[in-house]
Amino acid sequence: MSRNFDEIINRKNTWSLKWDFNFQQHDILPMSIADMDFYSPKAVENAIIERAKHGLYGYVGVPDTFKKIIKSWINRRHEWDIDEEWLLYSYTVTASIRNIIPAFTDPGDKILILTPCYGSFSYSITLNNRELVTSPLILQENYAIDFDDFEKKLSEGVKLFILCSPHNPIGKVWTKDELLKLGELCMLYNVLIISDEIHSDIVFKGYKHIPIASLSFELAQNSITFMSAGKTFNLSGLGASYIIAPNSALREKFKKQLKLTGVHEPNIFGIVAAEVAYSYGQQWLEAVLDYLQNNYDFMSKFFSEKIPEIRAVNQEGTYLGWLDCRKINIDCNELNDFFTNKARVKLNDGKAFGENGTGFQRINFACSRVILIEALNRIQLAVNKISI
Ligand SMILES: Cc1ncc(COP(=O)(O)O)c(C=O)c1O
Repeated sequence: MSRNFDEIINRKNTWSLKWDFNFQQHDILPMSIADMDFYSPKAVENAIIERAKHGLYGYVGVPDTFKKIIKSWINRRHEWDIDEEWLLYSYTVTASIRNIIPAFTDPGDKILILTPCYGSFSYSITLNNRELVTSPLILQENYAIDFDDFEKKLSEGVKLFILCSPHNPIGKVWTKDELLKLGELCMLYNVLIISDEIHSDIVFKGYKHIPIASLSFELAQNSITFMSAGKTFNLSGLGASYIIAPNSALREKFKKQLKLTGVHEPNIFGIVAAEVAYSYGQQWLEAVLDYLQNNYDFMSKFFSEKIPEIRAVNQEGTYLGWLDCRKINIDCNELNDFFTNKARVKLNDGKAFGENGTGFQRINFACSRVILIEALNRIQLAVNKISI
């Protein structure tokens, strides 16, 4: 069932956010928006075609099989035995993040995140008129949580903590000890944990994703987890995510909010795709993980051997690399323009992930090796020019 990930697929004129909407000039290589330039498993494509052939696209409900398939996937992949009744659905994880905030906080309430962090968290918090509180991660060789700072922020009246696990953009897979400590502190200060685990299946060899809610009964009762097959099988355009809420009171409250905004049902093709991917996509996923790991290793080596001004931070999961560019002789505020306009490679500016992302860039390396090499060569040429 594996696809040829070396194949260069033309995504232009497919309404691709990455290839059609995100930049103006067509000679710029897009390495930003978080989807993969790979085909999904063939079985997914076949199932969607079969369903589409029916030709009648009226209202549908969510079949019971979806719950069973999700439960089985989470059990096999993450050794977490969930109850089917804990599950809720939402169109996307973004919709869940936007809705969780009004469901469990009031305007002006404080919501905590670890930075640098996926920009949609801070955007959703401020969009909802809540106060964004950040606890900056500390970078030495790798990133670590400053637990003293985290506790201090919790003690200052935080209502909600939104965890990104694995963490976009730093590619970190949180360990059991880190998760337990975060969880214990949140419970000590009565802070509800929202765990966005959309990247949970993209984890490299030697690391293991642990759902924070799986660590104890108490943590399960004090958390709500967001997951989706979107990142795992490249299905983000299909709109079918789910929520795991073991605590029935929290679950009912959130269900009401999702219904209020009408995002509580996934798209028909999203269900078809996720069911087939979770049932038959394991081999494809193992192959894609190998390919991604090799891309990262290639990229990291390229930087250390050929562009020592840039360091790829250690990657434990996700296909979003985090590049420390602070040694390039360019004003941090102009870095992203430099990559776009001089190297002709579109990256995400680190600043968009929080203040301590300044001097960093995020690169999406879920693309064919040939494209990655082209991007790295372009970056090398541009950096060499400023060093002259
Ligand atoms: C941590 C995280 N959560 C959510 C999303 C978006 O999820 P969805 O496509 O389901 O809205 C992304 C996309 O990059 C992400 O990185």
